[in-house]
Amino acid sequence: MIRGQKTTIRPIEEDDIEELYQWYNDPDVNLWASGAWPLNTLLNKDQIALKFLDGSPDIYRYSVLDENNLLIGTIGFKDINIPGQSAALYIVIGNKSYWGKGYGTDALIVFVRFLFNQWNFHRISLDTWDENIRAIKAYEKVGFKIEGRQREARFVLGNYHDAILMGLLRDEFLALHGK
Ligand SMILES: CC(C)(COP(=O)(O)OP(=O)(O)OC[C@H]1O[C@@H](n2cnc3c(N)ncnc32)[C@H](O)[C@@H]1OP(=O)(O)O)[C@@H](O)C(=O)NCCC(=O)NCCS
Repeated sequence: MIRGQKTTIRPIEEDDIEELYQWYNDPDVNLWASGAWPLNTLLNKDQIALKFLDGSPDIYRYSVLDENNLLIGTIGFKDINIPGQSAALYIVIGNKSYWGKGYGTDALIVFVRFLFNQWNFHRISLDTWDENIRAIKAYEKVGFKIEGRQREARFVLGNYHDAILMGLLRDEFLALHGK
């Protein structure tokens, strides 16, 4: 387990699936988390279990817990580039009552530290979409910088939106947050 100030990150367990099923079929959660392909929406419990418990060997997913060990979200990484020492990060705080209270930023900081210090990544990237200001702010607090914009790359609620590409280097993170 990895512990931050407000959050703990641990492997996903079978008991988490019921909650994940609720989140990934919740339009609000998907509105912010998605806009990407493949969509996470309308997955039944078996599909959720397959995706989160078995999954692909090169996609790493974990559960995010609050101070009372209540499940509040998931975090993970994929697209590992071994020679480039890089990976792509993603996070979903699925329990909406926890949005905007610092839990996402806390989980990101502790997880990114793990990726730089334990996995020895040199660079972490991620992407979101232009109206997800809460996510962009949280990523900037961790140290991510906007590196680019893909015009009208996302389709959200009937409209095309720009994808926002962000990146963070290990030295930048350590200078901001220490080891
Ligand atoms: C994105 C997410 C991980 C951020 O975690 P969080 O715990 O909600 O965010 P935090 O409270 O740590 O930080 C959010 C920041 O955005 C700011 N913010 C929130 N809504 C905002 C808005 N509409 N406009 C401007 N700033 C806003 C907050 O004030 C806060 O900044 P501050 O600490 O300087 O005040 C979380 O909200 C989440 O998972 N949302 C749903 C799925 C999602 O969007 N995932 C990311 C997909 S790329």
